[in-house]
Amino acid sequence: MPAPKHFLQFSDFSVQKYEYLFARARWIKERFKRYERHRPLEDRTLVMIFEKQSTRTRLSFEAGMQQLGGAAIFLSTRDSQLGRGEPIEDSAEVISRMCDLVMIRTFEQASIERFARHSRVPVINGLTNEYHPCQILADIYTFIEHRGSIAGRTVAWIGDSNNVCNTWMQAAATLGFKLNVSTPPGYEVEPERAGVFDARCLETFADPMDAARGADLVTTDVWTSMGFEAENEERRKAFQDWQVDAEMMRCARPDALFMHCLPAHRGEEVASEVIDGPQSVVWDEAENRLHTQKALMEYLLLGQVGG
Ligand code: CP
Ligand code: NVA
Repeated sequence: MPAPKHFLQFSDFSVQKYEYLFARARWIKERFKRYERHRPLEDRTLVMIFEKQSTRTRLSFEAGMQQLGGAAIFLSTRDSQLGRGEPIEDSAEVISRMCDLVMIRTFEQASIERFARHSRVPVINGLTNEYHPCQILADIYTFIEHRGSIAGRTVAWIGDSNNVCNTWMQAAATLGFKLNVSTPPGYEVEPERAGVFDARCLETFADPMDAARGADLVTTDVWTSMGFEAENEERRKAFQDWQVDAEMMRCARPDALFMHCLPAHRGEEVASEVIDGPQSVVWDEAENRLHTQKALMEYLLLGQVGG
């Protein structure tokens, strides 16, 4: 049996694969908007394992699989044996004999890597402490829809060096754009932890205004990610000056976009005037989780197909 393809981090795929996926997502989205059936995954089953909460990821995978003709099953670690200490390897062996595709949202990246090593079917990372590749797949697709190719452009990341930031770093290295990052002292990026070994696409800035200067896209995320709630108070103090507001957006290019993976905290990492303002594309960004992940699931199960 050939080893299945997985999508565990952004660097798993080449630029050519992303070009295919972006083109395919566009084709799938256009058909969806015309209410045309596209059901290449009939009789296929996706299992979704959640160890953390979710709105967008669950909905986009579940709706997406149904729209492609398949079925989706939700498993939570709270009410399955996964939460009672059954070894990840045993769970992977069993789950992957009963379905065609697995999506996992969990804490440690090492856990999803272990699951994938013992899985007979493709595994998709639906967010770990380290990465959120499906999010950046949708974000870059959204950028392309609004502004064309992201190669050679500048993206500014303001805030925490978290899973979403790490994935932007991998995407910059894979797709050839520049990432300006500004984090508060003590929360600096760690390229090696992000799995980025050629950091030529990365520049770090002490002042977030400098990171935003000349950017084509400004993006941020919550100050406290899931799993880090105990640090909430400390982080609220440390991150005070890392809010994306109108003044910061004025440092970026006049046509710069604003993105946020959501859920957002208005008045913390982003001001309402920005997230609810004309440069924000957050609703397109959220919707595009659906279309890009449909292209991803189709690719993992059927390979590259013609439109
Ligand atoms: N952006 C994102 O992954 O949202 P959820 O946590 O709602 O899935
Ligand atoms: N960085 C956030 C993203 C949520 C979609 C978290 O991990 O909680």
